[in-house]
Formats: sequence, structure tokens, C-alpha cells
Amino acid sequence: MWVKVRIKLNRENFKDYAYFSLELNRNSTLLDMLVKIKEEIDQSLAFRSMCRAGICGTCAVKANGRPVLACSTKVLVFGEEITVEPIDNVLVIKDLVVDHEFLYNKLKLWKVWYNAEEEDKKVNASVLKRIEKSHECILCGICDSVCPVLTASSYFGGPTLLTRYYKLLFDIRNTAQEEKVQNLKNLNPQLCTHCMNCSFACPKKLMPEALIKEEENLLQEKGIIKREEGNFGFLEF
Ligand code: FES
Repeated sequence: MWVKVRIKLNRENFKDYAYFSLELNRNSTLLDMLVKIKEEIDQSLAFRSMCRAGICGTCAVKANGRPVLACSTKVLVFGEEITVEPIDNVLVIKDLVVDHEFLYNKLKLWKVWYNAEEEDKKVNASVLKRIEKSHECILCGICDSVCPVLTASSYFGGPTLLTRYYKLLFDIRNTAQEEKVQNLKNLNPQLCTHCMNCSFACPKKLMPEALIKEEENLLQEKGIIKREEGNFGFLEF
């Protein structure tokens, strides 16, 4: 199949679209398409990928307005004209490459990890079932890119951080479980408007909005926040 491709270029002193026309196999993914353009037409095109298997989360882009993993999305889905842009709500470094440093720094700040001792402990199947979605997050940043609250308030932790944080709240292996629950209030899950954008966009179908709702409920059950503190109680504009 022949496709016409329009790619948003973002470089120093240059913000425009580049146009390409190329022939692709019907099974080609968006990533195959980008690689072909880079190898055969324009070597200066910048995009990111590593695993090519939907695991590393580095290849997120927007195609015809929809945020997707380029390596796991077939070109066929978009028809013969495709516009590719970087995902939203993040700093663009060059062309389709965005800066994930901000997200990694948030994970560091909130210590979203287990220590080696904790990881070695046994855990029962029901706990594992509960936290599996949190573990499966690949940090692609797509959920944050579609979150309207993140763009409006720096008080909100955001879907990616709150999805990753979830496992620390409900995993009995985590020795700092109570401390994590207390810290959760600083990530303000109650600011989520439950628009569901994150859950619709998540390429791994992890339903971040549902996890955020559970986190909000946990704070309410523990008496850390009151019900009326939800819905933009702390929002800054
Ligand atoms: S290249 Fe790793 S998720 Fe796409």
C-alpha cells in the first residue's frame, strides 16, 4: 500500500511538517514506517524506539491525533494519509523525541520502587492480582499526555505516577506501606476528574483512572481527605 505521511518536525528555529510518500507492506507498523523513512529518505528524522515489542514504552507518538505505541500499531489502521506528531504535555527534544526526564524525576522523588529485601518476600496470588496492572505500566507517558488535569495543576501526581504508585499502597511486601499511604495525599488523586482519557488511551489497557479512583477512596477511608475535598479542591490556575 502507498501512504502519504506528514510528520511534525520540531527543531531549533524550525517547526513545520515534512511530507513523505512511500510504499509499505500491509502489516507494517508505524515504527516500520518511520524506520523506512529514516533509512531511505531522510536520515535527519528523529524518533525513539528500543524493544519494538510494546515493552519499553519509548516509541509513543500521536498518529492522526491518537496517541499510540508506534511499534504496536499498524499503519493500516490510519488509512492512506497519516499525520505523525510527538505526544502532548511533554517537552519535545527533536521531531518525535520527547523528554521523559520529568517523569523519571517524579518517580525518584516519590521513591516508587521496592528495595531488594522487599522484592524477595513471598506474596499471595490475590495481592499480585490486585497490583498487576500497576506493575505492567511501561512508562510510555501516553496517559499523562492526554490528562487535562496535569496541564492545569502542578498539585496533581498524574496518571503515570499514580498508576505506578498504586502497587506500593496495596502490596504487603512494601515495608513502608503506611508511609506511602500518608504520602499519597500529596499526589492529590482526588483532583482527577474521571474523564477517562487515560484509560481510553493506555496502550496496555491498564485503566489508570480506576486505580486513581481506588487511591482516592483509600484516602477517604483512612480519613486523610474528606469527600468534599475532591473535584478540584486544590486546583491552581
Ligand atoms: S519500541 Fe518499545 S514499546 Fe515500542
